[in-house]
Amino acid sequence: MDHQKDIRSSYNNSHVLLLPYPTQGHINPILQFAKRLVSKGTKATLATTTFVHNSMHATATAPASNLNIDFETISDGYDRGRSTTEIKVYLQTFRHVGSRTLAELIMRLRDSSRPVDAVVYDAFLPWALDVAKDFGLVGAVFFTQSLAVNTVYYHVHKGLLRLPLSDKTVSLPTLPPLEISETPSFVYSPESYPGFYYMVVNQFSNIDRADLVLFNSFHELENKTVEWMEKLWPVKTIGPTVPSIYLDERLENDKDYNINLWKPKDDTCISWLNDKSFGTVVYVSFGSLSAIEAEQMRELAWGLKRSNHYFLWVVRESEETKLPLELFKQEAFEKGLIVNWCPQLAVLAHKSVGCFVTHCGFNSTLEALSLGVPLVAMPQWTDQTTNAKYVEDVWGVGIRARPGENGIVRREVVENCIKELMEGEKGKEIKKNVIKWRDLAREAVSQGGSSDKNIDEFVAKLSS
Ligand code: UDX
Repeated sequence: MDHQKDIRSSYNNSHVLLLPYPTQGHINPILQFAKRLVSKGTKATLATTTFVHNSMHATATAPASNLNIDFETISDGYDRGRSTTEIKVYLQTFRHVGSRTLAELIMRLRDSSRPVDAVVYDAFLPWALDVAKDFGLVGAVFFTQSLAVNTVYYHVHKGLLRLPLSDKTVSLPTLPPLEISETPSFVYSPESYPGFYYMVVNQFSNIDRADLVLFNSFHELENKTVEWMEKLWPVKTIGPTVPSIYLDERLENDKDYNINLWKPKDDTCISWLNDKSFGTVVYVSFGSLSAIEAEQMRELAWGLKRSNHYFLWVVRESEETKLPLELFKQEAFEKGLIVNWCPQLAVLAHKSVGCFVTHCGFNSTLEALSLGVPLVAMPQWTDQTTNAKYVEDVWGVGIRARPGENGIVRREVVENCIKELMEGEKGKEIKKNVIKWRDLAREAVSQGGSSDKNIDEFVAKLSS
């Protein structure tokens, strides 16, 4: 892979405006995709909402100016922060105010030296396609979640999968049979999340008009589903969007730039990891949104302690009060470091990390798989339940920590899963699998790999 060479050797006159849904798990992959476009000589502008723009902290080993990405804002109608918890109300306001402010931005950029040719918009914001089409621009929808998960949502949208689910298992083209609890939570329990249910099903409302359908996945990872979906739409897998510097040893001295909506209180975790031996640390994180029940936090904390391994645990500030204080008073907890946010890619790429206890957000799953880190899957909601199924049964890159009474994963289950991965025979097999996937992921984004070619084709489409 030689992205630096790409920058020098290719220049095209096209300009892509990218519009993420304003949460961490959606900003990250679109920002990384923007970097890839820039490496192909395309100009990229990332439009975030005003509130996100004001909350952004860059974690950078390189200045933003090195990035060659422009940052602009549009409004979701909540410039001072979201004052509604009703997701449907939020989406409707965003649609109304966002359509207008996106159109104003496109008009402003039209008068610049490089007008916009294409809008890449998050699948949760389908109205952006209508705006792009009003201006005669190429419109490409960007899915941050897997093809498998979106196959489920598509079948619900089409009325081909009727809710509430009545059969014991769900059988859909190219997917393994899914138990009800392995379908996304918005599908097995739509009444608990009416707004989110509307959001995921509405992704397909105008998709037939999209010029391209992009997925942060790679062909080899979901090949049968890609081939099935290609019969419906012009699908292009462009992932994993993990930056090249983490995938290619030759680039390890290169610089990176990322955007975070949280600022770590301190910067200790990498130096803490530096002191540990190869593969000895359990990394624990539940992403940017999940709220864990206090009882689950306690069981997890005890499970980590009982595993007797070093651990680095991300507990966001909003979750801190749930930590079981009784444990911290004990000396035995000294093997752990708790931080409120960390540079996750650098952590997963660190030699001392041996496994990842994760909620199976799709970014975290793809990042771990691309960096060769086995997973203990503890899905919470949304697509994570289906991702966890794939982690264990389809890709063989981890084990599920199964909940017991009251839906809580008990301490002995956490302990056993960690020990199994870090010390057991099954762990060895899983490590072999994850290395196989890591290599395939690297190939996909290397020059001439499946995702790299797809990005080239996208860029060529813009130039023509
Ligand atoms: C949510 C859904 O769970 C996910 O499946 C969907 O694809 C996007 O929206 P989230 O719960 O935040 O995302 O999880 P995840 O997809 O894993 O994204 C979290 C991102 O934040 C990752 O890119 C991860 O690297 C980053 N992160 C997380 C950090 O940089 N530091 C941290 O301490 C924790």
